[in-house]
Amino acid sequence: MKTEVLQINSPTECAAALARAAAVLKKGGLVVFPTETVYGIGGIATSAEAAHAIYEAKGRPSDNPLIVHIANPREAEQYAVTNDTYYRLAAQFMPGPLTIILPKRNTVPDAVTGGLPTVALRVPAHPVAAALIRAVGEGIAAPSANLSGRPSPTTAAHVIGDLSGRVDMIIDGGECEVGLESTIISLDGDVATLLRPGAITADALACVCAEVKIASAVTELPGENERPLSPGMKYRHYAPRAALTLLNGAETEVTTYLKSLVGNKAVGILCYDEEIPLLQGAATLFPIGSRTDLETQAKRLFSLLREADNHPDCTMLFAHLPPREGLGLALYNRLIRAAAHTIQNV
Ligand code: TXA
Ligand code: MG
Repeated sequence: MKTEVLQINSPTECAAALARAAAVLKKGGLVVFPTETVYGIGGIATSAEAAHAIYEAKGRPSDNPLIVHIANPREAEQYAVTNDTYYRLAAQFMPGPLTIILPKRNTVPDAVTGGLPTVALRVPAHPVAAALIRAVGEGIAAPSANLSGRPSPTTAAHVIGDLSGRVDMIIDGGECEVGLESTIISLDGDVATLLRPGAITADALACVCAEVKIASAVTELPGENERPLSPGMKYRHYAPRAALTLLNGAETEVTTYLKSLVGNKAVGILCYDEEIPLLQGAATLFPIGSRTDLETQAKRLFSLLREADNHPDCTMLFAHLPPREGLGLALYNRLIRAAAHTIQNV
């Protein structure tokens, strides 16, 4: 299949291009589009065929359900059984990087939800994503636009590398603002369970929900026979080619340990910007942002994991273990999975 790449920076200036993308979706085709978190590979949410095509294009197991993207929180009524807590969360955080799991209606094919009785809903804030959903006139089912097992894409170049020839169209809308996928929660009355941490933090959710529980799979390795609350948790998502080790310890001890590694050409380090002058040598540095600037670290992480994958020498990767609070929990969750839970205390 030939993949068309379209540049759309502003929906108002590119109305004709957006209409073309919407037409591709309405015919059952696949269109990759930018969101504020990561790029998504979209198909019509009410079409089982489109869902199958998405799984095929990504090489993704079909028991791992897709998120339905809508333009407005009220459109959830078409696909799910809503409740008061959903609308209170929507008033606070939608549009934005929050996905809420609700009981599904029959309008959503089983293929979209991997056979689950629930559906994941999200209202993306990116103007191109919002305009595309409006132009289509219904929800768009979309997982992250990476090949299964690769880091989520935060630029169109990442998407082109993974999916060129496998989708009808890729919309290039520049670099994603957040860089990590949305926060996912399920609801039981006004108690939320955090299934995947993201830019909407547990503390922020606690301002609206009576309680926010954190699913054990966010930080721990799921047990052999444990059924995870979210099917995506059982897959080792982001597996870099190099073996990744996370370093845990006092700041100065970790930096000293990193210094002892720099003679080795096979070593790559996801270091803080402040450490760059201290770690000059044979190792390859992948600066992730300032020590306290978690937003920048979130925005760069996936891109750097891809860079490390493309580096010919780098077979061992090291990174700081992020703090488990706020946005740090989202970084922690992505990194421990990329590292297959390999943590070294220094
Ligand atoms: O930021 C995002 O959420 C991006 C953009 C494109 O919106 N999308 C994304 O989709 O990250 P994906 O498919 O890569 O991750 C969705 C996760 C999967 O781990 C899946 O298992 C979980 O959401 N999920 C979807 N529906 C679910 C459901 N009904 N119950 C539990 N988990 C669900
Ligand atoms: Mg994904």
